[in-house]
Amino acid sequence: MADGPHIFHPESRHVPELSELLTGWKPGKTASFGPQTPNLPATVAEVDGRLVGFLTGHHRFRDWNALVDFHHLAGTDGSWLAELFVHPAHRRTGIGRALVRHFIGASVAAGCSMVVVRPDQTDSAEEQAARQAFFIDLGFTPLRLDPGIRFLPDWLMGRPNDLG
Ligand SMILES: CC(C)(COP(=O)(O)OP(=O)(O)OC[C@H]1O[C@@H](n2cnc3c(N)ncnc32)[C@H](O)[C@@H]1OP(=O)(O)O)[C@@H](O)C(=O)NCCC(=O)NCCS
Repeated sequence: MADGPHIFHPESRHVPELSELLTGWKPGKTASFGPQTPNLPATVAEVDGRLVGFLTGHHRFRDWNALVDFHHLAGTDGSWLAELFVHPAHRRTGIGRALVRHFIGASVAAGCSMVVVRPDQTDSAEEQAARQAFFIDLGFTPLRLDPGIRFLPDWLMGRPNDLG
């Protein structure tokens, strides 16, 4: 992978290959994208003509009241990174990093103040440890949640966009 992955926004013709990739991640997991929905992943990674990773997310996060250290961002838009997956055969080659950096760039371009990550809580302990290390490497830190507000998952990580 001398030139790195090709990162781009997918089109509906990519849905079958994306669905196959998703099934390889978690059999039975319901795709948050598909022919029935216009919501495609924000970005995909292609290596040697094959899709090997995807990231889903949006730029409409506004629940700052739930994040005790970020009430001052009220009134701004944030980005919500919902799902991130790299095919196991292609891990530790910089694909996840490239997908997240691309999403951070899109977040900055959209005028958002911060990227918030909602890790998948059904992952194994090993997967959770891997992704924590991964996001910390990219400048994310765990977010303190207001215990009185229960509509968000138990833990999130975030990265203010003014980090650059
Ligand atoms: C987390 C995940 C996306 C990382 O993707 P990746 O392409 O392998 O990550 P990268 O190669 O870009 O890694 C960048 C850096 O993150 C850290 N990192 C990544 N995976 C790690 C692991 N298993 N253990 C420790 N550190 C890790 C390292 O610092 C790494 O740099 P290095 O390889 O130079 O040491 C991938 O392991 C994955 O798909 N996991 C299952 C799904 C998941 O947990 N998704 C995230 C939340 S929804």
